[in-house]
Amino acid sequence: MAYITALITAFLATIVIARTVRSPTPPMGWNSYNTWSCSPSEDKIKESSEGLLALGLDKVGYNFVTVDCGWPSRDRDSDGKLQWNATLFPSGGKALGDFMHGLGLDFGLYSGAGYLQCGSTDLPASLGFEQLDAESFAEWGGDSLKYDNCYSTSNTTMVDSSSAESQSPARFQHMAAELDAVDRDIQYYVCQWGIGTDVGHWAADIGNTWRISNDIYNAWRSIWRITNQVVPYYRHTKAGAFADMDMLIVGLNALSAEEERFHFGMWAINKSPLIIGAALDEDRISETSLEIMSNKEVIAINQDLLAKQARLVRRFTEEEWDIWLGGLTGSRQILGIANWRNDSQSVSFDLRSIGVASAQARNVWSASDLGAVSGTQTIDLAGHELRLWLLSDVVTSAPLSSSTYYAAVNATRSGSASIVTCAAGACLPTGSKVGNIASNASVAFSNVSVQSDGKKIIGVDFVNYDYAFTTAWEFGDNTRNMTVSVNGEKAKRWAFPLSGGDWEESGRLIVEVDGFKQGTANDVAFSGFGTGLAPDLVGFEVLD
Ligand SMILES: *[C@@H]1O[C@H](CO)[C@@H](O)[C@H](O)[C@H]1NC(C)=O
Ligand SMILES: *[C@@H]1O[C@H](CO)[C@@H](O)[C@H](O)[C@H]1NC(C)=O
Ligand SMILES: *[C@@H]1O[C@H](CO)[C@@H](O)[C@H](O)[C@H]1NC(C)=O
Ligand SMILES: *[C@@H]1O[C@H](CO)[C@@H](O)[C@H](O)[C@H]1NC(C)=O
Ligand SMILES: *[C@@H]1O[C@H](CO)[C@@H](O)[C@H](O)[C@H]1NC(C)=O
Ligand SMILES: *[C@@H]1O[C@H](CO)[C@@H](O)[C@H](O)[C@H]1NC(C)=O
Ligand SMILES: *[C@@H]1O[C@H](CO)[C@@H](O)[C@H](O)[C@H]1NC(C)=O
Repeated sequence: MAYITALITAFLATIVIARTVRSPTPPMGWNSYNTWSCSPSEDKIKESSEGLLALGLDKVGYNFVTVDCGWPSRDRDSDGKLQWNATLFPSGGKALGDFMHGLGLDFGLYSGAGYLQCGSTDLPASLGFEQLDAESFAEWGGDSLKYDNCYSTSNTTMVDSSSAESQSPARFQHMAAELDAVDRDIQYYVCQWGIGTDVGHWAADIGNTWRISNDIYNAWRSIWRITNQVVPYYRHTKAGAFADMDMLIVGLNALSAEEERFHFGMWAINKSPLIIGAALDEDRISETSLEIMSNKEVIAINQDLLAKQARLVRRFTEEEWDIWLGGLTGSRQILGIANWRNDSQSVSFDLRSIGVASAQARNVWSASDLGAVSGTQTIDLAGHELRLWLLSDVVTSAPLSSSTYYAAVNATRSGSASIVTCAAGACLPTGSKVGNIASNASVAFSNVSVQSDGKKIIGVDFVNYDYAFTTAWEFGDNTRNMTVSVNGEKAKRWAFPLSGGDWEESGRLIVEVDGFKQGTANDVAFSGFGTGLAPDLVGFEVLD
C-alpha cells in the first residue's frame, strides 16, 4: 500500500511539471466510430451513454463517451468557431456535455490536426484554429480530445501518410499547448497513427495515449498486425502515457468468443486504453462479448498502477505461439501464452527460462487458482486462445547469461546482405547492422560456442521499422521473416515484430534454436525468407 501511495505521489508530481492532464491508468470508455462510423447524432450518443450505464459498464470502469468524426457543421460561425451540426445535434455541444456529466460520464471530443475531419469531404478540423477550438472544447465541457491526422496537406487528399506534415509532431504539440492553456482539465488522445519516426518519444510527452498504427480492421488479422506493432512501445508506456492499440472490436461480430478474449486480453496486458466500439444496446451486443469486456480481473491487470506494458519474451513462429510477461504491482506478473494458430495445440515452456523460479498462479479467464507453479509447464491451448496467468509470490530465477556477443558486421555475408553503419548510440549493442538480407542472402557466423548439445535460447538483436501503414487495411504485414539454420540443418523461420521508433532502434527477439553441438565450432546462418527482406541484423548471443 505504501508502495502504491508513493507511486501516486510520484505521478502527481509529474502532472504539475508536465501540465497535461493525465490519467494514471489507461483510459476506459466508449467511442462512436466502430458502430456509427462518421455518422453520429444526438440520439445515438445519448442512447449509447444510457446503454453504457444500463449494461453496467460504468461500474467496471468505462467512464467516458467520445463523439468521433461527423459531429460538426460544415461551416464555422462568424467568429470562426466550430459549430455542432444542428440537424444531427439539435441541443448542441454544451447540452450534450451536461447530459453526459449528469450521467456521471466524461465527455469525449474529436477533431484533427489537418484541414478537414477524417471520413468527410467538407467538415472542418482544427488546423489554424487550435486556440479557438481548444476554448470551444472547454466551453462545451469536454473532458478529452481525440486528435486525428487526416487532410494534412490539402482539402482533397484524406490520408497522406508519407507527407512531412502528417509525420511531424508539430501540429499535435500545438494542440497540446492550447489544451494546456484552457481552464479545464482535458485529456489528450493523440491519433497520429504511429507514422514518421520516434512517435513514442514525442507523443508520450504530450498525450495520455497515442495511436501506434493504422486503424483496427474488423477482422482477426488486425490483432496480429497491431500486436506486432505495439511490441517496442514498452519503452514509452508509463503511468499517464499509454500506447493506443485502437478501439476494441469485441462485440462487432467479427471474432469468435475465444478470439474476443484474446483481443481484449492482449490489449489489456499491453496497457492499451480499453475503448469499446460495439453498440451499447442489449439487443445488439451478445452476453458473451459483454462479459468479456466486463471481466474485472482482466480490467484490473490493465488498470494496474505500475502501468507497465507486457513484453514479448518468447516467440515460436512456425509453431505459432508466443509468451508475454508483464510486471504488476505487488511483485506480481501477468503471463500471457498466445496461440496464433486457429487450432488447438499443446505447448511447453520452462518458467525458469523467462525468469520465474516459482509463483502462485491463477488462470484469469477461468477465474481458478492453480496453486504453486515452477519448472516446465505444458498447456493445452484452444485455437486463438490467449491463456492468462496471474503470477503472485513470484520468486525470480537467475537471468540467462551469455559469454560472447556475435556481431553481424563480423559475420560472413553473402548475396545482397550489406553492412550499414548507424548513428552514434543507435543499432545497439554494436552500433552497426547488416541490412538488405533477401532469401538468397545470408549472414553466417562460425565458431559459435555452446556448453552442451541441442536446443539453445538465443537473443537476436534486429531492426524492423516496417510499419506498413498504407497496406495495413488489406493484408499488408508489418513483421519481417528471418530464418536461422544451425550447422547446416534445415532453416527455421521467425516473424520479427517492430523493434523501435526508426530504422536504427534495435529490439531483441528471444527464440529457441536446435542443432547445436557442444564446443566452439558451431555454424549459425541467418537468411531472408520468401519474397520479402529479413529484418536488419545487429547480432546475437547464446543464452546458455
Ligand atoms: C448536417 O448533417 C446533415 C446530415 O449529415 C447534412 O445533410 C447537413 O448538410 C449538415 N449540415 C451542415 C450545416 O453541415
Ligand atoms: C482548405 O480550405 C480552407 C477553407 O476553404 C482554406 O482556408 C485552406 O487554405 C484550404 N487548404 C488548402 C491546403 O488548400
Ligand atoms: C478459424 O477456424 C474457424 C473454424 O474452422 C473458421 O470458421 C474461421 O474462419 C477460422 N478463422 C480464421 C481467421 O482463419
Ligand atoms: C569485429 O571484430 C573485431 C576484430 O575481432 C573487433 O575488434 C570488433 O569489436 C568486432 N565488432 C563488433 C561490432 O563486435
Ligand atoms: C536475390 O533475391 C533478390 C530478391 O528476391 C533478387 O532481386 C535477386 O536477383 C536475387 N539474386 C540472386 C543472385 O539470385
Ligand atoms: C574458427 O576457429 C578456427 C580455429 O580456432 C580458426 O582457424 C578460424 O579462423 C576461425 N574462423 C573464423 C571465421 O573466425
Ligand atoms: C512470412 O512468412 C509467412 C509464411 O510463409 C507468410 O505468410 C508471410 O506473409 C511472410 N511475411 C512477410 C512479411 O513476408
